[in-house]
Amino acid sequence: MRRKVTKAIFPVAGLGTRFLPATKSIPKEIMTLVDRPLIQYAIDEARAAGIKEFIFVTSRGKGALEDYFDNSPVLEQELRKKGKTDLLDTLKDTNMDSGAIAYIRQHKALGLGHAVWCARRLINNNEPFAVILPDDVIAAEKPCLQQMVEAYEDTGGCMVAAMEVPAEKAPSYGVLDVKDDMGTMVSVKGMVEKPAMDEAPSNLAVIGRYILTPKVLQSLNRMKSGAGGEIQLTDAIAEEIAQERDVYGYRFRGQRFDCGSKAGFLQATVAFGMAREDLRDEFTAYLQEMTALSKAAE
Ligand code: G1P
Repeated sequence: MRRKVTKAIFPVAGLGTRFLPATKSIPKEIMTLVDRPLIQYAIDEARAAGIKEFIFVTSRGKGALEDYFDNSPVLEQELRKKGKTDLLDTLKDTNMDSGAIAYIRQHKALGLGHAVWCARRLINNNEPFAVILPDDVIAAEKPCLQQMVEAYEDTGGCMVAAMEVPAEKAPSYGVLDVKDDMGTMVSVKGMVEKPAMDEAPSNLAVIGRYILTPKVLQSLNRMKSGAGGEIQLTDAIAEEIAQERDVYGYRFRGQRFDCGSKAGFLQATVAFGMAREDLRDEFTAYLQEMTALSKAAE
């Protein structure tokens, strides 16, 4: 039996400069799609995939994240007193069992690979773990990481979420060099972080969901800085391939939003707003009205 994936690392140390001035005083992971912060979507997805331990790699100024997952006795007492059981229920998703969540600081902004490496002491030998980048929000009937965990039960090795992107976008991603394309899954013979457009080995990009073996952490021990002068997770996974260990790309079913960009964040807001039963009618009517108005103005 393959060892279950029960731990996930959430790299949340980034400064979020693309969302200044908002991120001057709030972590970008607390920014909300409708009424849930980005980090809540990531945690919900992890839980659905069977994750029991949540490791946050944070930095200075991320205190709001710790508070978010703490109990809030005054608020809870007030809601109880007023009989607002539906709101109390809403808060349940933010509760964590004591000891289920750990915070590690990344003291220097040396890149995604370095952030993941900072959590190395919390991952045991031979224990696979997941990495979730909360900027990548994925709307899916079956949550993306759950799809991957199910596929991983058959394959083992390392697995990254993958998605086709237009050629001109490849330089923004880690890009897969495909060995065998099996449809939903591909086996990978190389990976390049942020390649130049004419050097991208394919248009299959890495999206922020990973299932990794602790060997990747060992590689990160030795990793020198790569693209953008940062220590790259992509390079450490590529090292697995160099050592002839299996790496797979997984074409997930679902829609991914790049919530690290303003346009992506707005698109996600619209999509999640329309998907919400309590908002759908009013919100859709408004969007239709807006579309009609802008058409009329043309
Ligand atoms: C990170 C990874 C990259 C991946 C991307 C997905 O890049 O380094 O390989 O394709 O996330 O969102 P970032 O967006 O942090 O620059």
